[in-house]
Amino acid sequence: MKIFNTPPQEIRELDQSDTLSAKRNEFLVPDDIIYLNGNSLGPLTKNSQQRAQEVVFEQWGKDLIASWNKHAWIDLPFIAGEKIAKIIGAAEHQLVCCDSVSINLLKVLACCLQMQPTRNILLSQKENFPTDLYVAQGLEALLGPTRCKLKTVAEPELANALDKDVAVLFLSQVNFRNGDRHDIEKISFLAREKGILVVWDLSHSVGVLPLKMDEWEVDFAIGCGYKYLNGGPGAPAFIYANKKNHAAIKQPIQGWMGHREPFTFDPDYKNAAGIAQFLTGTSPILSLAVLDSALDIFTDITIIDINRKANALAELFLDLVKNDEDLNCLTLESKADSTLRGSQLAFSHADAYGISRALNKADVVVDFRSPNICLLYTSDAADE
Ligand SMILES: Cc1ncc(COP(=O)(O)O)c(C=O)c1O
Repeated sequence: MKIFNTPPQEIRELDQSDTLSAKRNEFLVPDDIIYLNGNSLGPLTKNSQQRAQEVVFEQWGKDLIASWNKHAWIDLPFIAGEKIAKIIGAAEHQLVCCDSVSINLLKVLACCLQMQPTRNILLSQKENFPTDLYVAQGLEALLGPTRCKLKTVAEPELANALDKDVAVLFLSQVNFRNGDRHDIEKISFLAREKGILVVWDLSHSVGVLPLKMDEWEVDFAIGCGYKYLNGGPGAPAFIYANKKNHAAIKQPIQGWMGHREPFTFDPDYKNAAGIAQFLTGTSPILSLAVLDSALDIFTDITIIDINRKANALAELFLDLVKNDEDLNCLTLESKADSTLRGSQLAFSHADAYGISRALNKADVVVDFRSPNICLLYTSDAADE
């Protein structure tokens, strides 16, 4: 395909004048591939590769159990959490890295239900990422519909569905298929007006979209570490809990790491203060350390810069597709207006699966979403 051949001079020049171009050298992406799949698995950073070796050989290998204190393993969920806090517009002490998004959502939804004793509806969108809906279905099966009932509506019906029975509204900001983006500030406000708590899944937003969790008065958020944060396969996820809710946090997967004094081995659970009580068991230190180092990529750049570049790449890409007669058969399923979509472009085609496979074979790594979507992400500090 023509567009994936050596780019013309103007495109090379754009790369050269790009303020993020030096970031390319901080990643270990093979030279001979074009990687457009950071929405599923972000690439490896040099920082992370070095950290993995350090943690395995120097810390675990030599200092063994002393590393929990000597190398601050015990604090890592919060150290990495504070780095993510900066990226999502949150003040300190409101973020922790732990478990997966699915597990964290269960903890947070159960917490919201307990904060809303007279309401039973968990409201979401039919098009939400399936795991989010499965978690809510599991909670409903456990607690029974009188206490907990999942209701899903199509996106245009969301505002009307915000009524006095809704305990919590939980949504993914960016649709994993077509990239449609919700306005967090607006929807959170509408929900708050009706006494509804909000939980945002930021898996496809964190690291690429400008976010202001505190300013937008979001109650809770969760998100992935292995996508745009480049934390590696199965990297821990995170939980944001707005300070205003800390006194009310109560979550069911109570474990010793969320106890206020884990090492007293108290037979009775007494929750730690604040965000720490969302911890459950021992953190996966190897994964967490790798994520923690990957987050350093963001220290000297802004999400605004990343977003600007993502949009510029997307516009260029769309222009190239539009002007290529071989590619006219692709239908853009993402919003043309970049403020209404995440950092991805989704194209539909009856043979999307075959096209995705052919691209992958040609070392252009894209994603496929059944049944007919070919998905390209358009940002990440690694993307050139
Ligand atoms: C929006 C969204 N939520 C949740 C998940 C699942 O996260 P986890 O595997 O950490 O449970 C994904 C995974 O792709 C996702 O895209």
